[in-house]
Amino acid sequence: MVEIRDLGAHVGETVSVTGWVEATRGHGKVAFTVVRDGTGLLQGVLVKSQVDEEVWALQQSLTQESVVTLTGEVKEDARAPGGYELGVAGVELVSAAEEYPIQPKEHGIDFLLDHRHLWLRSSLQRAGLRVRAEVEQAIHDFLYQREFVRIDTPILTGAIGEHAGTLFETDYFGDSAYMAQTGQLYVEAACPAFRRVYCFGPTFRAEKSKTRRHLTEFWMVEPEVAFADSNDNMRLQEEFVSYIVERALENCAEELKVLERDTSKLELVKPPFPRMSYTDAVTLLQERGSEVEWGRDLGAADETTLMEGRDLPLFVHDYPKGAKAFYMKENPDDPRTVLCDDLLAPEGYGEIIGGSQREDDLERLRARIHEEGLPEEAYAWYLDLRRYGTFPHSGFGLGIERTVAWITGRHHIREMIPFPRLMNRLYP
Ligand code: 4AD
Ligand code: MG
Repeated sequence: MVEIRDLGAHVGETVSVTGWVEATRGHGKVAFTVVRDGTGLLQGVLVKSQVDEEVWALQQSLTQESVVTLTGEVKEDARAPGGYELGVAGVELVSAAEEYPIQPKEHGIDFLLDHRHLWLRSSLQRAGLRVRAEVEQAIHDFLYQREFVRIDTPILTGAIGEHAGTLFETDYFGDSAYMAQTGQLYVEAACPAFRRVYCFGPTFRAEKSKTRRHLTEFWMVEPEVAFADSNDNMRLQEEFVSYIVERALENCAEELKVLERDTSKLELVKPPFPRMSYTDAVTLLQERGSEVEWGRDLGAADETTLMEGRDLPLFVHDYPKGAKAFYMKENPDDPRTVLCDDLLAPEGYGEIIGGSQREDDLERLRARIHEEGLPEEAYAWYLDLRRYGTFPHSGFGLGIERTVAWITGRHHIREMIPFPRLMNRLYP
């Protein structure tokens, strides 16, 4: 059996290709069967006068997504998808598919999500998920090249990682456990062991919002670096994001074309990225008519307004303490704020990264835990990190689905994960 992507090495030879039937057409003298084998698409051409009657009849009866083996001669054809065609002499049915629910016509989004297990095979979904896989590989490659050590952090946790408001709580032998909202507290613990570390995995948030940017289960990469301040942190983020975009452009040109992505916008993504303080952002937003008040976190609409007229991602830094998580370091130049940044993607995609320098002072951190109403006992081990050799350190979390939605230019992040988990969706 030959894989479709390797056909170029077999021009003029007779080969067999096995795959799923994407489409069939033609009834008169010539019939076409388009087969997908996971490595590409191949059009098989059948001439009625040149094949046995049974072969012709079998081709005519093929249903969408049936599995077939086509045998014939490989021919070069610039017009064919993939550049080759098969002059079919034999057709063998491996399995016949029942009537396929997803037809080449418009379906509603709920119908498609209900059939996600089948929808994955469609061309736009294949393209999007392949870009996702490339983005994930680029993340690991970048961090490996820079000698980060990957630390796998727990999913069942006893301490709240981010906010009390969006927790999935589950029974843990009579106690409460929380599904991890972040791996950050654990990579911070691994930092004194390895200096540069990261975790990569699923994170969980009981988001009650049904927006294009929220999933209840999403994947995040979280690097953490010892002796890096907030400024170093932003530098790492812009290099990281630029590398990821560059890799997608390099290795997913075909997919981005299928997705009709305007890649000229992505070509511009190179460091350095502009920076704006939260305070300046609020002033600008108010000038542009927003009702945002100093002290509140920025919403999706504000982020979109801030990005008007911008091609590059934008860092918004030094948010008010009250708008952000307990572990961020107080800004010595303005103690109402913390040393943090959100990286906003252009074209309306909003926040793709949240990062910060961490509070490394034991008493200040303890005070923040109390201010937030969090139970100190659950953070005893985390506070230990400030007792035994505390050190300046910073890190960030990049959301995979939001990043891939931006790179692919798709509207909704639910298409950027193979099996999305949303407020009203646990199947398939
Ligand atoms: O800004 P967040 O909440 O930051 C953290 O979790 C930190 N612990 C990261 C760190 O410093 N190590 O989340 C980081 C990113 C967001 O910028 C966004 O891209 C993504 O995670 N994200 C979501 N993606 C999809 N659905 C959701 N509900 C998301 N919540 C956050
Ligand atoms: Mg955030």
